[in-house]
Amino acid sequence: MTCGSDGGLERMLLERVTVLGNERVTEGVGLVVLEAPRVARGVRPGQFVHLRIAEGRDFILRRPFSVHRASGERLEILYQVLGVGTRALSLAERGEEMDLIGPLGHGWEMPDTLSHALLVCGGLGSAPMGMLAIELAEKGVAVTVAQGASTAGRLVARELFADVARRHEIATDDGSAGERGFVTALVEPLVAQDRPDIVYVCGPEPMERIVAAQAATAGVPCQVSLERLMGCGIGACLSCVVSTVHGQKRACVDGPVFNAEEVLWASAEIPPKY
Ligand SMILES: Cc1cc2nc3c(=O)[nH]c(=O)nc-3n(C[C@H](O)[C@H](O)[C@H](O)COP(=O)(O)OP(=O)(O)OC[C@H]3O[C@@H](n4cnc5c(N)ncnc54)[C@H](O)[C@@H]3O)c2cc1C
Ligand code: FES
Repeated sequence: MTCGSDGGLERMLLERVTVLGNERVTEGVGLVVLEAPRVARGVRPGQFVHLRIAEGRDFILRRPFSVHRASGERLEILYQVLGVGTRALSLAERGEEMDLIGPLGHGWEMPDTLSHALLVCGGLGSAPMGMLAIELAEKGVAVTVAQGASTAGRLVARELFADVARRHEIATDDGSAGERGFVTALVEPLVAQDRPDIVYVCGPEPMERIVAAQAATAGVPCQVSLERLMGCGIGACLSCVVSTVHGQKRACVDGPVFNAEEVLWASAEIPPKY
């Protein structure tokens, strides 16, 4: 992560893409597969694309989405239906054309010295972790995944993690899979038992903040992927500011992945949920 440089922009492309498939994964969550040969070849784990969802409709702004997986000419995006843009995305059909800008931002850093990594995902925080888990496993890094969701049906990418991780631990709010409770409760024992060299985390910000503190206490480096509302996606509009010990940074070009110890978290309060 080169905080402060417009990282990755030199490799950014505007690409016309075609929908190859779009399926419901669970309630309110879909997986869209795009034919995007140029971006798919260049994207790194943790980077995102800025997608113009539908032509001829009233979308002025693109929407940012992490790349869940990339293989060959295909990009996969896991998306949660929240508003007008993601609702339109959920209706996109095979053969439909869109365009995107990407790959954007700084993804996860994977030092060559890694031998064991802990990935902590909450809810849709699994989205930017798919490619990461696959690539780490391909490099021979032992991957432990701690995955949390409200209920078993919302453990998106569960099969992918089960396939590639050496250890896959689950927590659900209602106890319908794994431990009952929050994924943050899994982190301390996993760090103690597995002694990872690094912790990667993506999920709701209060959860990320707790995991960052747990990693810091254990003396393990931690990287977090942060979400901000994004206008341009390329560093020009300043809508995506993150406060860090090095000053204000733009999540779109300086992140979305940051070293956790550099982040000045927005709230001192940790909701009781976590
Ligand atoms: C770097 C990055 C990567 C992302 N990756 C993914 C991903 O892989 N999958 C996914 O489902 N979503 C992801 N998001 C969030 C996604 O961009 C928003 O959910 C989406 O833009 C909402 O568009 P909309 O038109 O449906 O919602 P809108 O109608 O624009 O808004 C509906 C609701 O969603 C909230 N919202 C809008 N944008 C964001 C945002 N950026 N973060 C959080 N809440 C938002 C709004 O505040 C509002 O409450 C990512 C965001 C960023 C910044
Ligand atoms: S989204 Fe415009 S500066 Fe980051």
